[in-house]
Amino acid sequence: MLILGIETSCDETSVAIVEDGRKVLSNVTSSSIELFENAGGVIPEEAARAQVEYMIPVLNTALSEANLSAMDIDAVAVTKGPGLLGSLLVGTSTARAFCSIWNKPLIGVNHTLGHLSSVWLECEDEPSYPILTLSVSGGHTDLWLRKSHTEGILLGSTKDDAAGEAFDKGAIQLGLPYPGGPSISKTAIDGDATSHKFPLPLANDKSLDFSFSGLKTSLKYLLRDLNIDTPESLTDKQLVDISASYENAICAHLVDRLKRAVSEHDECNEIHIVGGVSANNHLREIVNSTFKDKTVRCPTKIKYCTDNGSMIAAAGYFLFREKGDLAYESFKSGKASD
Ligand code: KG4
Ligand code: ZN
Repeated sequence: MLILGIETSCDETSVAIVEDGRKVLSNVTSSSIELFENAGGVIPEEAARAQVEYMIPVLNTALSEANLSAMDIDAVAVTKGPGLLGSLLVGTSTARAFCSIWNKPLIGVNHTLGHLSSVWLECEDEPSYPILTLSVSGGHTDLWLRKSHTEGILLGSTKDDAAGEAFDKGAIQLGLPYPGGPSISKTAIDGDATSHKFPLPLANDKSLDFSFSGLKTSLKYLLRDLNIDTPESLTDKQLVDISASYENAICAHLVDRLKRAVSEHDECNEIHIVGGVSANNHLREIVNSTFKDKTVRCPTKIKYCTDNGSMIAAAGYFLFREKGDLAYESFKSGKASD
């Protein structure tokens, strides 16, 4: 089954064609991220305008790179939320128009379900349920106990900022460009992660929830105590050491909750980490070394960690496989987004 996946929930315009939820025939992404490098975050109106500009060229390129025409597609899957409203509308309107013109079924996909499905893309062997999945991005931080592609229990989630947001907001304080995850991680490579102590959030909390806002405040107080008024006054050594310590503190909190989840759900032999923050090498290293007796999987390529059309196509395929025609949105009666 060939599914065309469209993802436009934030600043990426991404269209992919995926066969049977795993084989990626094309994955084309344009991003407006460079517009926001010095803004500290995405400006919704500008992101939506860029989506309008990129949408049709990206769609055409995805079809031509796969050597396919619109008629060859079996169904269209599109992110229906959560995300920035203007950006989402560009994707859902395009998907509806495509399905209406070419008479194809439309599958609405929750963005998080897309991330959860991203591990299957170009994965050589078949992951087996039940699976514990840590889904970490700029918009959410969730721990799932998953029983199938479409069934799962949300064990915990963040009470305040998401893990990616903690990176992004930390980067603003350190004078590093948006998005903060890659820029902090790159800066941290030469740093000493033990040079500055950060508290372990929710250390005595027995739930599986997360909290990152305290780390952001600790970073602010650390800079104040070092008499750093503006990021420009940081020495190179301070910048790399603080970046490494802050990155380590975010990862330590994620792994601490994961450890608790694994001890409560030992029946899961697989741990998956998905979402933009799963691109983080330090996080991957700690998770791999902590859970040596489990199968740890991340998306097979970095481009499948951050937002992409392939994961939406994969999720659309699994929704169809497990729910049949019930997966289809009755877009002709106007129900494409909820
Ligand atoms: O999944 P994603 O592309 O979009 C959302 O659904 O939010 O995630 C974007 C987030 C950003 O906060 C970004 O800073 C973070 O993922 N991120 C990273 C890395 N690459 C992206 N965080 C840590 N390390 C990275 N290498
Ligand atoms: Zn995402």
